[in-house]
Amino acid sequence: MSSNNDFLPINGTDYVEFYVGNARQAAHYYQTAFGFQPLAYAGLETGLKNRTSYVLMQDKIRFVFTSSMHADDSIAKHVSDHGDGVKVVALWVDDARKSWEETTSRGAKSYQEPQTASDENGEVITSGIHTYGETVHIFVERKNYKGPFLPGFVKWEPEYRPEPVGLKYVDHMVGNVGWNQMNTWVEFYAKVMGFNQLVSFDDKDISTEYTALMSKVMSNGNGRIKFPINEPASGKKRSQVEEYLDFYGTSGVQHVAMATDNILETVTALRNRGVEFLTVPDSYYETVLDRVGSIDEELKALRKLGILVDRDEEGYLLQIFTKPVQDRPTVFYEIIQRKGAKSFGKGNFKALFEAIELEQVKRGTL
Ligand code: FE2
Repeated sequence: MSSNNDFLPINGTDYVEFYVGNARQAAHYYQTAFGFQPLAYAGLETGLKNRTSYVLMQDKIRFVFTSSMHADDSIAKHVSDHGDGVKVVALWVDDARKSWEETTSRGAKSYQEPQTASDENGEVITSGIHTYGETVHIFVERKNYKGPFLPGFVKWEPEYRPEPVGLKYVDHMVGNVGWNQMNTWVEFYAKVMGFNQLVSFDDKDISTEYTALMSKVMSNGNGRIKFPINEPASGKKRSQVEEYLDFYGTSGVQHVAMATDNILETVTALRNRGVEFLTVPDSYYETVLDRVGSIDEELKALRKLGILVDRDEEGYLLQIFTKPVQDRPTVFYEIIQRKGAKSFGKGNFKALFEAIELEQVKRGTL
């Protein structure tokens, strides 16, 4: 799917940065629960006065957790407004200056003009643009850099190092946007970033008795970046996208899907470490094989772990969703194993919605 007129070539997701209330504790949680490995640190000890950041890594996935040291800066305000959430979806590029020029000239609002940072490990050029809500994209050009993360960060080497759980790379990242805003942002990714639309679901595809959503998936030229964009659709009660918007306060990242080569092992490890997943109604497993046909895995094992299955023309996929990982019902994770399928689990949306609604009933927010 490469095209030679791709004006924004992207090598992959560089990192995802979360603004959180307590970066130190967040880092510990992602080590302990999700098996991320310590990578880099910046804070008071490295000369930073206003914030602290911990960087963790698992195979190709890099997460940064940043918290403010003061009451009234933009990081503290972000946490106060949204709770813990994703601020930066950073994209790895070969030319951060050109990425900024190509996107801002097509209408992107600049977040950060191209700038070079350097230390004894070389130099990194970054630039940034705004996307939905308060979320931003940072373009990272790191071909002349050999340090652990970015200039200003030092290696973080704690003794505590729980094992990885087999998470490999970011498969896709979903944005929830407000009522009637899906097409605005689909157009943004098409026009400003040169992405193509892969698929769309309307409210008839993704609805239960109570709630609905609409979704379109945007992908970059080489297919390494996939951003489904959801907007709420009206139903009898408050949908999960509306609930997200109410608690996050604006549009934002709803979930990060992380790929594994062995979902049975990964989810077993995550469960043993205390990660909580949505439970699917038992009835799901009574009919799933009628829908998806034969699969390599034993149904019993999938049922025990609550793993969902879906099939498209090219193969099938296995997926599972965590509960939200902070107090507000906002950001959560998907663990996905693709066995040929290139889609996103449309056939599971209804089963999943019913599971989410059970959780909403418990929260009194349906
Ligand atoms: Fe997903």
